[in-house]
Amino acid sequence: MLVNMKPLLEDARLKKYAIGSFNVYNYETIKGVIQAIKNQKTPAVIAFGEKYLKNMDVDSVYNLVNTLSKNIDVPFALHLDHCKSLENIYRAIRAGFTSVMYDGSALPYEENIANTLKVVEVAHACNVSVEAELGSLASGLNSHEGKLDDEEIYTSPAKAQNFVRITEIDALAVSIGTVHGMYKGIPNIRVDILKKIKEKVNIPFVLHGGSGTPEEKLRDCIANGICKINVNTEISMYTVEKIRQALNDGKNYHLSDISLMEINFVQDIVSKYIKIFS
Ligand code: 13P
Repeated sequence: MLVNMKPLLEDARLKKYAIGSFNVYNYETIKGVIQAIKNQKTPAVIAFGEKYLKNMDVDSVYNLVNTLSKNIDVPFALHLDHCKSLENIYRAIRAGFTSVMYDGSALPYEENIANTLKVVEVAHACNVSVEAELGSLASGLNSHEGKLDDEEIYTSPAKAQNFVRITEIDALAVSIGTVHGMYKGIPNIRVDILKKIKEKVNIPFVLHGGSGTPEEKLRDCIANGICKINVNTEISMYTVEKIRQALNDGKNYHLSDISLMEINFVQDIVSKYIKIFS
């Protein structure tokens, strides 16, 4: 059952768990995530990043998700992840996405506010939830979101308070030391910054860069206001590695067999994360 992301995150905030947000790029990843939601009977977010528009268009994503989830009564959101273009946001809303993330984190603060306001006005009129980002995550190994050696820019609690008050977004992505991709060294997750943001801001927070983050850190973040955790790199790494191992077993696989393998491996790794977060 496709729903707006806001009530999912509000419930998570109240009951102190996190909703998993899992990136998809093709039929197999969409089917794998939907099977995991169905089997775990747990709400989640199916996330499609703007950068994967070269793989699929938003209408195909929506139609596929809608068709494959017809007999599922667990609520989930279809979310446009990390979108920098207002045009692409409006396209996703028209296609039927129930949630969007406007990513103006690389822009000057005032410009990020002005663009986020435009998105909120349109999205809320269409019953679509809005996530926005303040601060900017560094990129680690195998990152698909940024370039290696990007610098972490931590979210300022005072700016976050002002940003949320003006824009009236539904969820705030915070930058507190997680990275997009796998960590190059020991993760330094700044829960102290998260606590300061929580003192000033009263909406659900989103943790990007879930891959490779130690479980005890994730639990600490959830206890301090993180209601949604995004995972991309690890879904890809796990599935590619498993398929690589299978291809080395000497059998002569048909492409359709590999497609089935992909669906099942995606389902396995997504199920693992759903259990950790909830
Ligand atoms: P990872 O690739 O590190 O899991 O991050 C995913 C993410 O934040 C997508 O928005």
